[in-house]
Amino acid sequence: MNAIQIYGGNCLEGQIKIQGSKNAALPILAAALLINGICEIENCPDISDVYHMIRLMESLCCTIDRNGHTLKINARQLASHIMPSDSVGVMRSSITLLGALLARTGNVSMQYPGGCVIGQRPIDLHLQGLRRMGVVIEEREDGFGAYAEKLVGTVHKLPFVSVGATENLILAAVLAQGETVIENAAREPEIYVLCDFLNQAGARIKGAGTSRLVIEGVKALHEVSYRIPADRIVAGTYLSACLCSGGEVFLQEAPCTQMGAVIMAASAMGAEAYESREGLHVICRKRRKMPPKLWTDSYPGFPTDLQSAFLTAMTLAEGTGMLEETIFENRFRIVPELQKMGAKITYRKNMVMVEGVTCLHGSLLKAEELRGGAALVLAGAAAEGATTVLNRHFIERGYEDICKDLRMLGIKCEKTNWEERND
Ligand code: UD1
Repeated sequence: MNAIQIYGGNCLEGQIKIQGSKNAALPILAAALLINGICEIENCPDISDVYHMIRLMESLCCTIDRNGHTLKINARQLASHIMPSDSVGVMRSSITLLGALLARTGNVSMQYPGGCVIGQRPIDLHLQGLRRMGVVIEEREDGFGAYAEKLVGTVHKLPFVSVGATENLILAAVLAQGETVIENAAREPEIYVLCDFLNQAGARIKGAGTSRLVIEGVKALHEVSYRIPADRIVAGTYLSACLCSGGEVFLQEAPCTQMGAVIMAASAMGAEAYESREGLHVICRKRRKMPPKLWTDSYPGFPTDLQSAFLTAMTLAEGTGMLEETIFENRFRIVPELQKMGAKITYRKNMVMVEGVTCLHGSLLKAEELRGGAALVLAGAAAEGATTVLNRHFIERGYEDICKDLRMLGIKCEKTNWEERND
């Protein structure tokens, strides 16, 4: 079984460059389907979710040339409308292809998308919104077919904030007939970036970064080159590593302006954080304090994708604290693993109470999803002794090379194959 082996206990010291953003790259790749030509995407992260997206797009007859972190996507020959079930099954972001593909081909057949096991994650908002734009959707047990002769602009009032539904409706709207308004749109930086990419390709989207988007449909988009910004969640993960283990790190290109709530929470725990255009400098010398109550929220609130990493840091902080998950209903799956290491955590519905301990001890742990898996690696780096985190492939969905990054920061850790080591 693929795994990560960590020998913990060292303080962090060093500097790393933050990779391009997964959650910005995936919808931009989907958006490239809207362009009857070639797009060049730079700083695209080298992660398995991007490989899956590339495979999916190639199966739709796109040609994609990859040179390091640069992708050239040619969607001129876009033809097929059937998405292969193996890639759709492992990656929730495959749903983002729906809006773009309907705009280009008017006909999509796909399985219900997969992704992390962090809650139910239905797609009802996506489908309802598309129906309102004239799409006929026939649901089957394992998937659905969607057909539209043309997409028509309308007013969407989303009953709650959804990043994916906002992205899908934007993608369906840019080439639709007339005006589309999305009220209660997600304000995540990745939505801003998607709108920026599309506007540079000739779309007419107003209100990017606010909760009201107004999209005037255009006839066609043109070719464009675009650079994916750095990943705020990866930067927040390594900031959390510093909170867990102590030390001093410089996170080059960390997008500080997108990390307000995270930097505020880290400061409340006693970290010194210095923001600059070049990146984020973090110093944690004394033992961390428990933050006043912390809860996840949609942007600009504290991101759910960093909840596990902060929970891990809290297990080692001084005092008692509380952390609430308000976005997903099943996102505390790492708690039993942290408890194995000596963490004192109790549940109360979608909330955990943490009593800080002075040390965690190395253990054999099992990752069950992407961000929780990364948090277990941070726990291993801060623990005394050796830790093995099984199921490295979950972490590789979103981190280019977490072992290499942590080694640059002074942590001894390596990719390993657990079964082989125990033969
Ligand atoms: C995106 C991010 C993910 C992040 C999440 C919340 C990507 C690739 N993924 O996921 O990393 O954790 O935003 O910031 O960008 N919901 C419904 N019906 C729907 C859609 C969503 O009930 O049709 C619910 C979900 O179950 C969840 C909540 O709405 O409880 C928020 O989900 P959403 O914002 O859509 O998350 P994703 O776009 O899947």
